[in-house]
Amino acid sequence: MNRLNASGLLQWVDDRFPLTSTWRYHMGEYYVAKNTNFWYYFGSLSILVLIIQIVSGLWLTMYYQPSAERAFSSIEFIMRDVDWGWLMRYLHTTGASAFFIVVYLHMFRGLLYGSYKKPRELLWIIGVLIYLVMMTEAFMGYVLPWGQMSYWAAQVIIALAGVVPVVGEELVIWLQGGFIVNEATLGRLFALHVVALPLVLIALVFVHIVALHHVGSTNPDGVDIKKNKDADGKPVDGVPFHPYFTVKDLFGYGVFLTLFVAVIFFAPEFGGYFIERPNFQPADPLQTPEAIHPVWYFTAWYAMLQSIPNEALGVIVMLAGTVVLLFLPWLDRTEVKSIRYRGLGFKIGLAALVISFLILTWVGMQDPEGLPIILGRIFTAIYFGFFVFLWVYTYFGFEKTKPVPERVTS
Ligand code: HEM
Repeated sequence: MNRLNASGLLQWVDDRFPLTSTWRYHMGEYYVAKNTNFWYYFGSLSILVLIIQIVSGLWLTMYYQPSAERAFSSIEFIMRDVDWGWLMRYLHTTGASAFFIVVYLHMFRGLLYGSYKKPRELLWIIGVLIYLVMMTEAFMGYVLPWGQMSYWAAQVIIALAGVVPVVGEELVIWLQGGFIVNEATLGRLFALHVVALPLVLIALVFVHIVALHHVGSTNPDGVDIKKNKDADGKPVDGVPFHPYFTVKDLFGYGVFLTLFVAVIFFAPEFGGYFIERPNFQPADPLQTPEAIHPVWYFTAWYAMLQSIPNEALGVIVMLAGTVVLLFLPWLDRTEVKSIRYRGLGFKIGLAALVISFLILTWVGMQDPEGLPIILGRIFTAIYFGFFVFLWVYTYFGFEKTKPVPERVTS
């Protein structure tokens, strides 16, 4: 009989499951460029926040009650009476905002370094789908505490389905499970929020990583490190993910968690941005809050919706804001990936895109009248203008790029 030792056990597992080869393919022999920088922290940070959301959400589900009568008080119960309940709730609410912060920075890295270009188009598209699912998930979670803002936000958002021609009105009733947002609405949003969408999200993140490891990561120079290999077939400009990037990412986790717990301990509502004030009042179907607007991570899209006078057109524009990202790999025709070697027009265009998104985020938090409406229209036009400009600029060869180096620069 074989002696049972660690290598014997590993061999036993390897004969039945590709453990060692999977580890090598994804960690020990997965090569990443030596010069990846600050912007490359946010992918692994997104994984960390996803885990925080799942674990804290699991605990909340143990005490939360998805009924119109008890939802609000069950949240108060978690906050006041359940041991460490406040921590689980604040981990989850702060986690939702942190998720969008890290994912927005992660997407921005993609724009800076052309991560969406060949051969990473599919990786990018999977990313955009993740973003869409994240937004749906966050909206549904927001309704669950059944506060004033939860209730009325659900009302406003679900009512948007009313713009669908012919069946619109029926569709809203079907989605709500009644003529107004009610107990049935809460039940279905709860089921989708805790079971269906997390599964979809995890599955999408899994294929995101599989696609990434198939094509490899970019780097701030946009150099293909697989083109320069040493005698052993290892990229000369790369280092194995483990231990070099596991350590780098752990450092990122440390910095992130320090900031994250500081917010949880000292400013969990974050001045009404992470948990909005009207949500400390129970839902009242008979009284509309003074102003209804979504949480900060949605307000740019909400500003687009409000700046268009025709509701149906507003919904189309708002949806187009995300859908256009799916086409980015084909709108940008320049082969050079990194912003370091791209033309001035691209740099100015990208700056305009980011500034317009930030201003729209502010606009969406204001009452829809006067200056915010005007700014909303101007910056919605600039947001979409970026994509039109990018295509014209790169398709007709107006862009003057700089030569990309053969090897990565440090
Ligand atoms: C739950 C959300 C997400 C998770 C957990 C996640 C995870 C990751 C990880 C771990 C990486 C490799 C490390 C890195 O390059 O930073 C990565 C790369 C990438 N992600 Fe994501 N991601 C998420 C959302 C998104 C979104 C919303 C997009 C775009 C719309 C996106 C697009 C990309 C692209 C294009 C790459 C390749 C980057 C490169 O090599 O330059 N991801 N992602």
